[in-house]
Amino acid sequence: MTKQYMGREFALTQKEVKNLPQKNIVKIDKWNPDAGIIREGASILRSGGLVAFPTETIYGLGANGLSSEAARKIFLAKERPVDNPLILHLTDAKETEALAEVDERAAKVMAAFWPGPLTLVLRARPGIPAEVTAGLSTVALRVPDHPVALALIEAAGCPIAAPSANRSGRPSPTDAEAVAAELGDKVDLILDSGHVDIGLESTVIDLTGHNALLLRPGGSSIERLEAFLGEPLGMFDEESKKRSPGTRHKHYSPTVPVRVWEARETGKADKNLHDSINPAKFGFMGVNPPPAEFARVILFESEDSYARGIFAGFRQFEAEGLGIVAEWPKPYGIGLALRDRIRRASTS
Ligand code: TXA
Ligand code: MG
Repeated sequence: MTKQYMGREFALTQKEVKNLPQKNIVKIDKWNPDAGIIREGASILRSGGLVAFPTETIYGLGANGLSSEAARKIFLAKERPVDNPLILHLTDAKETEALAEVDERAAKVMAAFWPGPLTLVLRARPGIPAEVTAGLSTVALRVPDHPVALALIEAAGCPIAAPSANRSGRPSPTDAEAVAAELGDKVDLILDSGHVDIGLESTVIDLTGHNALLLRPGGSSIERLEAFLGEPLGMFDEESKKRSPGTRHKHYSPTVPVRVWEARETGKADKNLHDSINPAKFGFMGVNPPPAEFARVILFESEDSYARGIFAGFRQFEAEGLGIVAEWPKPYGIGLALRDRIRRASTS
């Protein structure tokens, strides 16, 4: 949902969204999901509807992953390019056998990393809707680490196709209010378990070739994956762009400009930054003290909390009509995924 201000479009603030008559949001306890609410969500999914639900990474927009018609609704609601395939969400690694060719390496990775923020691209078995795979011979699979997501998938009794619950190209939603602001009544039900833990999407790796290939950095650290695989991951490059169509498209972008700032001498005013922007019209977010007098500042206590809060921060500054200066994180751990999101938000 957006409002117009001086000819420009802004997302509604969380307060404005709360004041809207939103009938389709239901609160559900993460650690003790109400069985009745889960049943209702599952029955919507089984009858071909859309249910937004929390995962440990971000909120997903779920549909029956074995139904072309249901999957098509995801693309319509998000205005998502049809050549961008969807991740199928499962409750257990055992369910992968029916959907994909699982070799020993893939089975070991699943056992070590699932449930968790890691998506595996494997060779697909026949029978998966072309809407889900975007016509590729591969399929992306993941078991999320969230009691509500797992209960919902279990009760639905089918794999759940779920991209991030935002309009295509926008920052991913990390709470239910953001889902409502993005998709409003295009979704039949929004399950609200509060703010997510990780805040960035899953890491996506392609295990169809000889070397494991990184398609998208995310919640599972590359260092841990490489240590487990015993080899460096093939890195995100032109080849992986062809293999992961989603990476070609505009992503994570607020409607206001996003600028990157790298901490060198912390706490000191940065003359270069001052010369290129007016800090009074920008909000700053990062882990180090801001290098100028910004209109707003969100200071995170760690890079993990930066990751957790970055998309909500984007939305907040955007709603206030402020540009965004995002600190450039360190190039390891969650910092690599943060860099990827900030780079794409700032260049598209
Ligand atoms: O954390 C997440 O992964 C969240 C939650 C809801 O699970 N989902 C998510 O979905 O981020 P989405 O659709 O926003 O991103 C899926 C990514 C896209 O970059 C897509 O291109 C890639 O996975 N992908 C899906 N299927 C693929 C396939 N068969 N081959 C290569 N890449 C694939
Ligand atoms: Mg997405």
